[in-house]
Amino acid sequence: MPGLLLGDEAPNFEADTTQGRIRFHDFLGDSWGILFSHPRDFTPVCTTELGRAAKLAPEFRKRNVKMIALSIDKVSDHLAWSKDINAYNGDEPTEELPFPIIADAKRELSIQLGMLDPDERDKEGLPLTARVVFIFGPDKKLKLSILYPATTGRNFDEILRVVDSLQLTAKSKVATPVDWKRGDSVMVIPSMPDDEARKLFPEGVFTKELPSGKKYLRYTPQP
Ligand code: BEZ
Repeated sequence: MPGLLLGDEAPNFEADTTQGRIRFHDFLGDSWGILFSHPRDFTPVCTTELGRAAKLAPEFRKRNVKMIALSIDKVSDHLAWSKDINAYNGDEPTEELPFPIIADAKRELSIQLGMLDPDERDKEGLPLTARVVFIFGPDKKLKLSILYPATTGRNFDEILRVVDSLQLTAKSKVATPVDWKRGDSVMVIPSMPDDEARKLFPEGVFTKELPSGKKYLRYTPQP
């Protein structure tokens, strides 16, 4: 079955982009990476999304995350549309965005990566790309995948938030609770015994009492 599951290695595909031809692993280098697809160029929701992604590019750069977009349009369309995206952002209407956009006009990559949405079709009846978010670690393995339909725009602040969680939990044996943001307390993972947690988190482990008497809600300040 085409598509990517958590832990799968990113395929080392070659593709034409608005910044030239790339080989994906070389593009990623030793960085984290976000590959995000959109249904079509010159469409309203996609314009707002890529505009927001462009505005947040410095935040992704700070976190060592390389950004790359994808849709089933041609490079020439991506470049012409980039002017609209920049104008939407209130910037000079140039063809330059702070990330490349892959041109997957033949849908080969979208099929390989499981990105097509059978419910959204073009005039010829061919499926469009869904709003997929893939985040890869420096080991090129898939760390997170989120899939939105064409009619629901993404929240790029949420995507930055999950990058923060992924990067923290990659280096510390913790998990981040609901609505967590950088600086908030984190949770001790369920498999870690109390004595190990106390040693590992010298700032303390705080357990919330629960009716079950089970002591699984264990917090510690963000390491
Ligand atoms: C949009 O980007 O606005 C869009 C694209 C395809 C279907 C629905 C909305």
